[in-house]
Amino acid sequence: MTSSTIRPASDYPPGGDAFRHRHLTGIAQLTPWEISYVLDAAEEWVDLNRSGAAKHDDRLAGLTIINAFFENSTRTLLSFEIAGKRLGADVVNMHAAQSSVKKGETLIDTAMTLNAMRADAIVIRHASSGAVQLIADKVDCPVLNAGDGRHEHPTQALLDALTIRRRKGRVEGLTIAICGDVLHSRVARSNILALTLLGNEVRIVAPPTLTPPAMERMHVTTFTDMDEGIKDADVVMMLRLQNERMDGAYLPSAREYHALYGLTPKRLEQAKPDAIVMHPGPMNRGVEIDSSIADDADRSTITEQVEMGVAVRMACLDILTRRQRGVPGWN
Ligand code: NCD
Repeated sequence: MTSSTIRPASDYPPGGDAFRHRHLTGIAQLTPWEISYVLDAAEEWVDLNRSGAAKHDDRLAGLTIINAFFENSTRTLLSFEIAGKRLGADVVNMHAAQSSVKKGETLIDTAMTLNAMRADAIVIRHASSGAVQLIADKVDCPVLNAGDGRHEHPTQALLDALTIRRRKGRVEGLTIAICGDVLHSRVARSNILALTLLGNEVRIVAPPTLTPPAMERMHVTTFTDMDEGIKDADVVMMLRLQNERMDGAYLPSAREYHALYGLTPKRLEQAKPDAIVMHPGPMNRGVEIDSSIADDADRSTITEQVEMGVAVRMACLDILTRRQRGVPGWN
């Protein structure tokens, strides 16, 4: 079931034509083929990671990857670090709290500093939408977006697509409800772009105050009623309330939010009987999702998403550094 949609390499254009980008700044730049290409490449790394043979592939040996995180992170930072190390790269982490950013250095100056150190790839998380593109325009090496403001979080969408594809046998023709704080969520944005591009019906379920304007332009339908929004869904994707991005009162209280938008076992009965439940983490148990659902291994894909995150990031680091490594056909 898991591998049914993997395409043979001969289905893709040869060499670098299969993935034409120097950077991974967002899903918006990608074609459906390029997304499938990354997912198929990641499958290989899932198998290797599970076999325990990981670390035996050192194709990134001699490369230096800098993880520049200007915002907090647990799973994204760790999984980029593990992904780089599993492929033999030297990985260094820069935490903004301990960096010169706190001394007033501009983003461009930080970018030029990272560039002068001759990194072979830079992974960036930043609180401002567009900051990653700004850095990508200034440096010589590939830049991977690990989340920029409310804008995009492309590797999260890729790992979510891979998780869905493995659990459901396909990632097309499904009904997928993305529920919660869509307004502040780069995860939602990247997922909407990826999942609509791959041919799924995507619904947004959120209170009016947390629904972004003009969602119809993103080819989704919006719901303010949770029971209606998840009705007959194949996938229910929950989002965290991003309080740190809220500059004012968007909600009466967490308790009220849970009553109307929390995913409870009763509410989940509205979705298809075999619906899966996703969450990018970190989750607030008892707010957007009940523990009994989060911990139900048959329904919840939360730990599998983390596992897929390492594989997808290995695939992205491999693909984006092929030009520097002189891989034939990747000039
Ligand atoms: C998300 C993020 O940082 O955008 N987390 C993640 O990368 N797994 C979502 C969140 O913070 O709620």
